[in-house]
Order: sequence, then structure tokens, then C-alpha cells
Amino acid sequence: MHRPGDILIDRHRIDARVSELAAEITADLGRSDIRNPKSEITLVPILTGSLIFLADLIRQLPLPMRIKLISVSSYPGGATESRGPRVRQGLTDLPPSLAGQHVLVVDDILDTGQTLSLVRDELARREPASLGTCVLLRKDRPQAQATPVDYVAFDIPDRFVVGYGLDHDDYHRNLPDIVELHPATARQARIGGARGVAP
Ligand code: IMP
Ligand code: MG
Repeated sequence: MHRPGDILIDRHRIDARVSELAAEITADLGRSDIRNPKSEITLVPILTGSLIFLADLIRQLPLPMRIKLISVSSYPGGATESRGPRVRQGLTDLPPSLAGQHVLVVDDILDTGQTLSLVRDELARREPASLGTCVLLRKDRPQAQATPVDYVAFDIPDRFVVGYGLDHDDYHRNLPDIVELHPATARQARIGGARGVAP
């Protein structure tokens, strides 16, 4: 498989860390909520980047749960800088109320923090019993560090990364490792179209 940059976090480290995180979440949710038969766990993955992380995570969470989707887009086309997030209504299936439910938002990466803040507001309006947040990656930049988040799998340098669900122009989500996209590759993609860097 074509790899558009160097591996930052390989699949084995991802596996090990996702297991650790799942154990942490299970212990926390079990302590606070799950023994209360009235409580319900609802995972809200932010589409599309969190899909692979979600798939691996939930298979290690031995808890009764449901999944509700929210889709947010902030990177039009080949951009590597956020243009501001927007909820994509067509791909979002949040119920009007989340009363009584313990909600855990799952996202791929915390960059400017705008996406997570937007989603947190959307969900808070639905008045869940509790609202937690979990990200696979957090970039080393002030806005990301300043955004409150409950679970972080990895802190990474402030670089553009792809793979394990993360994309550039919708490509590379299928890479099993997390890869740092070469700046030259990103430029080439903008000139030549996304197929220039397709796996
Ligand atoms: P934020 O709103 O700036 O925190 O950006 C969060 C969203 O932007 C993530 O859910 C990703 O979809 C996308 N994003 C931010 N940084 C990267 C990156 O390095 N690679 C791929 N997608 C990214
Ligand atoms: Mg995303």
C-alpha cells in the first residue's frame, strides 16, 4: 500500500493504547453509571474520521451501548487548514433529547478544538445525564491543549497526519498506521487533484 509519509504511530502501538483506553473508560463508566439500570451509554462518533477508532474501541467496551452519529466537516477538498466546522445534517441522526443517557463523544483528532466545542454544544442542548469526550490524537498546539477533553489516546506534534481513519481530501483513511503527510505530498495533491496521493 502506498504510504504518503513516515509512520508516526504504528498499528501495534495503536492497538495497545486503544486497549488501555477501553479499560479506563470501562472502569470509569462502570463506576459511575452502568450499575444504575436506568443509565444508558450512548457513543457519538464524529464522522468520518473517528470510524476506525470507534470500531476498535467499542469491541473492547463490554457495556450496553448505543451509537448515534454526528457528521462535521471542516476541511473542504485538499485543504490542510480548518475552514471552520459545520454540522452536516443529512448524515447526523441525533435524537431531539438525550435525557437520562450518558454520552461519550468520540473524535479522531483535536486540532483547533472547534469541532469538539461545536459538538459539545449540540449535545449539551439535548440535556444528557453526562457528557464525556474522547479523542484518538491531540496536537501539540495551544488551542488543542486548551480544549477540555476527558480521554486522549496519543499526544502528537503539530503536523498533518493521515491513516487509521484520518484523511486528506478523503483519501488514506485505510492506512493501518498513523502517518505524517509530507508537506510536498499535500502540495502535490492540491495541484494534481486527490488522485495524486491516493493509496
Ligand atoms: P478542529 O476542529 O480544528 O479541532 O479539527 C478537528 C477535525 O479536523 C478532526 O475531526 C479531523 O477531521 C480534522 N483534522 C484536524 N487535523 C487533522 C489532521 O492532521 N489530519 C486529518 N484530519 C485532521
Ligand atoms: Mg473529523
